[in-house]
Amino acid sequence: MRLVARGVTFSYPRSPEPVLKGVDFDIPSGHSAAIIGPSGSGKTTLLSLIGRLLSMQEGTVEAIAPDGTVRPPYEVASWVFQTISLLPDRTAADNVAIGAYSDGATREEAQSRARDYLGRVGLTPHAEIPTRILSGGEAQRVAIARALASHRPVILADEPTGQLDAKTSASVLEAMIGAHGERTVLVVTHDPEVADRCDLILELRDGRVHELREGANGRLSVARAGRSRTAMRKPRPKAKVSKPKTAKPRRGAP
Ligand SMILES: Nc1ncnc2c1ncn2[C@@H]1O[C@H](COP(=O)(O)OP(=O)(O)OP(=O)(O)O)[C@@H](O)[C@H]1O
Ligand SMILES: [Mg+2]
Repeated sequence: MRLVARGVTFSYPRSPEPVLKGVDFDIPSGHSAAIIGPSGSGKTTLLSLIGRLLSMQEGTVEAIAPDGTVRPPYEVASWVFQTISLLPDRTAADNVAIGAYSDGATREEAQSRARDYLGRVGLTPHAEIPTRILSGGEAQRVAIARALASHRPVILADEPTGQLDAKTSASVLEAMIGAHGERTVLVVTHDPEVADRCDLILELRDGRVHELREGANGRLSVARAGRSRTAMRKPRPKAKVSKPKTAKPRRGAP
């Protein structure tokens, strides 16, 4: 699913000025984008509007399937919340299975996905433990596995690695971003390493997307050049983009 936002503007009641003042972005299908920006800049607000936890006031966000079908993003997205939100008395496996059930999976399929995705976030030994006794970082990994188990084409993740050490963070991100295939992943993060692993970095400041640049993953210029306005933007010089200095390979080149 391609995710396209146009002119998203939002004010909370009694707030002196809008938190978001016309946010635009265009994320190609199957790509990952990091939303970065100072605390209070509106990152969670933006994600909440995309996922319809808040009602849109002005502007649009659309999820566009490869065949051109337009869907509201909340219908096709799964969440990893900033506040983790698991069922505390159910096991890690049950919590992840809930993600699969939301996708219409049978009991058997849901159990199988739960084992699979708990394994991908390194939690196989914790599968049968109630989530209330997991550490913060373990609980966060369960929440990520639950989102992956839903097999929805869009993942909205708010600070998904905030409680993880660098090594665990890298492996969990790999599970979420690296192997996402056709999934589109939107990650709010304060961590530059997380942002750099994404295909695209959107910086939210003063209510707008101020910078739009490639992450170190840098697939956009090769895979999507010419497909969208976003994809054609050149990385700013200060962006940490590690690319060879040779000419870009042409489409179809070996
Ligand atoms: N329910 C609310 N009512 C009024 N103002 C709110 C509400 N929720 C958030 N805000 C304000 O909107 C602004 C943006 O908040 P938001 O949670 O989107 O920021 P954020 O970028 O996610 O911050 P952080 O990095 O700290 O999570 C903040 O100034 C916050 O105080
Ligand atoms: Mg937030």
